[in-house]
Amino acid sequence: MVGPAVRGPDFFDRETERAALAEMLRDGAHGLVTAPMRTGKTSLLRQVALELSGTIDHLWTR
Ligand SMILES: Nc1ncnc2c1ncn2[C@@H]1O[C@H](COP(=O)(O)OP(=O)(O)OP(=O)(O)O)[C@@H](O)[C@H]1O
Ligand SMILES: [Mg+2]
Repeated sequence: MVGPAVRGPDFFDRETERAALAEMLRDGAHGLVTAPMRTGKTSLLRQVALELSGTIDHLWTR
């Protein structure tokens, strides 16, 4: 079964990736997230955007 990207209380772990992405975004750097399908790319990006809410501008196209 295919579920949606998770966020907030449903999101777990990814501490290393969250810290690295947050630091990169705060520094104004560009980044590219690549990983096999269904491994949590969208969830990670949405979670970091939620955590940095109010400090960075972000846009979702879907
Ligand atoms: N950090 C997480 N905590 C809990 N569940 C997760 C997490 N990351 C991914 N999942 C689970 O894996 C599924 C796929 O996550 P997600 O849609 O973020 O992956 P994706 O890599 O963006 O997928 P796609 O390749 O289809 O774009 C989610 O529906 C969720 O069930
Ligand atoms: Mg995705």
